[in-house]
Amino acid sequence: MRVGIITASDKGYAGEREDLSGPKIASIMKEHGYEVADSVILPDEKQMLADEMIRMCDSGIDLILTTGGTGFARRDVTPEATRMVIEKEVNGIPMAILSYSLSITERAMLSRAAAGIRGQTLIINLPGSPKAVEEALLYILPSLKHGLEIMLGLDSECARPSHS
Ligand code: MTE
Repeated sequence: MRVGIITASDKGYAGEREDLSGPKIASIMKEHGYEVADSVILPDEKQMLADEMIRMCDSGIDLILTTGGTGFARRDVTPEATRMVIEKEVNGIPMAILSYSLSITERAMLSRAAAGIRGQTLIINLPGSPKAVEEALLYILPSLKHGLEIMLGLDSECARPSHS
């Protein structure tokens, strides 16, 4: 499975802040057997983010993970960029992340993250902090693999002997 990472951060793009969340996603995904095929830092600009998502989708990436730009700040537009490009909304993944994250911090309610499918690519918004990224990713990874396999037509069988 090929993963693309997009960090949405004005300060990261300007070189005023080190991007810790993109590399955090990359190391977690590699540990779980994914190939990190592409990683970019972009400013919080809706069209630039949407264009990059489309470029990654067209380049055959299976999963795009974004970090940052999901909150309430005036410049936060990652969910809006995501909704511009997806063809099918996936509500369950942000709901699952929210549900789990609320048990860690009530501030999880401040993320407006979206997720969806464009063609054969799943796009998931993660919050901006490395801590939030790790919490969210580790929670969704076990189910994510199954979802990606179904999306790619590698698996059509949801039944399992035991669900955790
Ligand atoms: N989710 C988890 N799991 N852990 C966190 O620490 N931080 C929250 C939230 N989601 C957090 C979290 C906070 S403080 C904010 S403001 C929002 O994510 C939005 O973050 P973003 O604008 O950097 O994307």
